[in-house]
Amino acid sequence: MRMVDLIQKKRDGLELTKSEIDFIIEGYTQGAIPDYQVSAWAMSVFFQGMNPREIADLTMAMVKSGDEVDLSAIEGIKVDKHSTGGVGDTTTLVLGPLVAAAGVPVAKMSGRGLGHTGGTIDKLEAIDGFHTEITKEEFIKIVNEIKVAVVGQSGNLTPADKKLYGLRDVTATVNSIPLIASSIMSKKIASGADAIVLDVKTGDGAFMKTLEGSKELARTMVEIGKRVGRNTVAVISDMNQPLGFAVGNALEVKEAIDTLRGHGPEDLTELCLVLGAHMVVLAKKEDDFDMAYNRLKKILASGEAISKLKEFIQAQGGNPEVVDHPERLPQSKYQVEVKTASTGYVKSIKAEEIGHIAMMLGAGRKTKEDSIDLAVGVELKKKVGDPVQEGDVLAVLHANTEDEMEEWVTKTTHAYAIQQEQVSALPLIYDVIE
Ligand code: URA
Ligand code: CA
Repeated sequence: MRMVDLIQKKRDGLELTKSEIDFIIEGYTQGAIPDYQVSAWAMSVFFQGMNPREIADLTMAMVKSGDEVDLSAIEGIKVDKHSTGGVGDTTTLVLGPLVAAAGVPVAKMSGRGLGHTGGTIDKLEAIDGFHTEITKEEFIKIVNEIKVAVVGQSGNLTPADKKLYGLRDVTATVNSIPLIASSIMSKKIASGADAIVLDVKTGDGAFMKTLEGSKELARTMVEIGKRVGRNTVAVISDMNQPLGFAVGNALEVKEAIDTLRGHGPEDLTELCLVLGAHMVVLAKKEDDFDMAYNRLKKILASGEAISKLKEFIQAQGGNPEVVDHPERLPQSKYQVEVKTASTGYVKSIKAEEIGHIAMMLGAGRKTKEDSIDLAVGVELKKKVGDPVQEGDVLAVLHANTEDEMEEWVTKTTHAYAIQQEQVSALPLIYDVIE
């Protein structure tokens, strides 16, 4: 087989066989096929697309390129959740304890974040003593005992995806649905998921800006799941404003605590109930969505969810008192109110811009080597549809320095669009693809 022939085949719109796809992915991973040929191939995929069979084969070729996590020692169906990335997305912190309390095993492998706020591991490290450097044996033991644990990523998972994603980033081939879908699904499958719930974000602050694009990505991933024996459900949710109120690590931990107590922001709570209910059904802990949804609602109201959070924190070395005393989370030195000069209704909030401000305040990493400030971030006080009057506080900036504060205040004001006419609240969920 010669790579040049496979590039030409795809360039001309023909279908690649499984062995041809394996040849490309194996050869690239091992360094036998150079970047320039894979670049040309990725561009041909960008223009010609792939059929569902090719996409499933590409996904599994990337899974096989590295280690696969074996979670078979954990009892039950392991359901993983993946979000295509939003701003202030606190769902993972809420969902772990919430569905664990319903008996679903949550064996989460997580990484550190790049971009506007930290990853799940960074957020959990805002809790005094919490650590994720546990052995595989400890990890499995904790999941079997309390149904939820988080471990830092180790091993060499999907090296083909790492290489290919890096290459796509510099060759204008990121935005291809077959390549995105296989990239996301390969990582979930390699981390040991038996079933997968996808939160596909749509809107201004999301990777996919249009509903049509988000639906197509969702359908493609659900189809991959079906073909490779991992039941997959995709929920398409709104990212035309940040989810919840908090964007920043400790701020999001506090928001997760509030939500697990049943006092969280409405949108975050609802999305967690919906995603969680699909997880409960896929794990076969309830027969249908409505039963699962109602069960989770009861778990929030009864205090079982918040107890599970305490157990989870304790099991990983953290101090569970933080749950009753969230003021013990890292606090910023300055809290600066951002006020509006307009009267009317909030029409939109640029989620990406709010994420960028949180990162510039120190909540995120610009490069992998950056350290992050767990205390800082943006706390929204108004969301889309809310009425506002001149002088009302739109948001509070949590910062540890006053340098350039004026700029961040101005930028936050500009992230809000306010209009005279009444605005209805945004839909939270657009579609569910099963
Ligand atoms: N996220 C991924 O993990 N892969 C992509 O290709 C795009 C977004
Ligand atoms: Ca949030």
